[in-house]
Amino acid sequence: MARYFATTAKGIESITAEELKRLGAENIEQSFGGVYFEGANELLYRANLHLRTATRVLMPIREFAAKTPEMLYDQVRRIKWENYLNPQMTFAVDCTIAGSKTLRRTMGAENLPRPRLPGDPEPLRERLNNSRFAALKVKDAIVDQLRQKQGARPNVDAEQPDIQVVAYLHGGRCILSLDSSGVSLHERGYRLRDAGAPLKETLAAAIIELSGWDTATPFIDPMCGSGTLPLEAGLTALKIAPGLFRERFGFFSWPDFDEALWTRVVDEARAKINRRIEAPILGFDQDRDAIATALENSKRAGLTKLVHFEKRGLESLAPVGDKPGTLIVNPPYGVRLGEVEELKSLYTMLGDLFKQRMKGYTAFIFTGNLELAKQVGLRAARRIELFNGPIDCRLLKYDLY
Ligand SMILES: C[S@@+](CC[C@H](N)C(=O)[O-])C[C@H]1O[C@@H](n2cnc3c(N)ncnc32)[C@H](O)[C@@H]1O
Repeated sequence: MARYFATTAKGIESITAEELKRLGAENIEQSFGGVYFEGANELLYRANLHLRTATRVLMPIREFAAKTPEMLYDQVRRIKWENYLNPQMTFAVDCTIAGSKTLRRTMGAENLPRPRLPGDPEPLRERLNNSRFAALKVKDAIVDQLRQKQGARPNVDAEQPDIQVVAYLHGGRCILSLDSSGVSLHERGYRLRDAGAPLKETLAAAIIELSGWDTATPFIDPMCGSGTLPLEAGLTALKIAPGLFRERFGFFSWPDFDEALWTRVVDEARAKINRRIEAPILGFDQDRDAIATALENSKRAGLTKLVHFEKRGLESLAPVGDKPGTLIVNPPYGVRLGEVEELKSLYTMLGDLFKQRMKGYTAFIFTGNLELAKQVGLRAARRIELFNGPIDCRLLKYDLY
């Protein structure tokens, strides 16, 4: 049994907690930006393979007070690194310093920057340097300890390390973890190219879960871009574990990796896949390239025959199948003022089409622009706050009686 932390985008912790419950996790505890849970190795493997909404699964190995770089170095050096790493392996350290001004100052910043706020274009250089400095301290402590004990040191590989160490500094404390996922879990492995501004697969999966779509009724995304929402809906309907397309997870390099157990977990996931979907899943977009990308991604996900993509403008929106379903749309929300003005009529059109053609459907608009959302002209039955990266977004629900 070990304790893990599944990181999520802000606002979807409860969805990830539900997923973990279904996977059989114990002592589930929601926190800010993630969910703690307990389980054996098998659960860790299943979590990485099956979780649709988590970004990564961390295994905290030590928590300690770290108010200065020296304290950080000392504590990290006390961890028995030979349990996780040997000089032939590679590693990397990722560090996040959250919150406290004082901590950022004491961790090495001369000119104290303010933290990154939603809407800041790029991470502030000083802040980055700061967490880089802390990451360097962690790296030095690991290298110094192993060199002293074993006479040789492991190398750093920032791109594809065997062991990814994650340091999270907050309120004078540090939680040091190993990242069992490796590359972020939103990278399912089926996406070749992006079109426009794609949603992260993990966020798309959370939106679908929040919509309450039951897979037995139609699913439509009339502005599907690269197809993320219909493809994630397809994976959900077919019960395809999202990690099945990935070639690698971080825990593959852990010394206790149990390959036979992993193979069993994968076989079990494959055996659960449905062959057919119960109701149509469709994605439309007016942009030819977007549809080409969606089709390519669909092929890689093995969903070509099951999820329908077609180049079509919003004006031809119509219900499908013989029962009402769920519509989820992520319209453009514009960055520059001129764009926003132009988009107003698109949002008005969405509202009009919902009213006139989609009776009985439950519709959702996911947008980062609340002014534009007002143009829809319908009363939202529910408004859910979610974050698309740093952008404060809303998932708006409309019951179309
Ligand atoms: C924010 S993107 C959607 C991204 C998508 N959720 C994804 O994950 O790739 C908005 C999409 O709306 C499409 N679009 C804009 N106006 C449209 C219209 N009138 N009819 C159909 N599609 C439209 C754009 O081509 C663009 O692909």
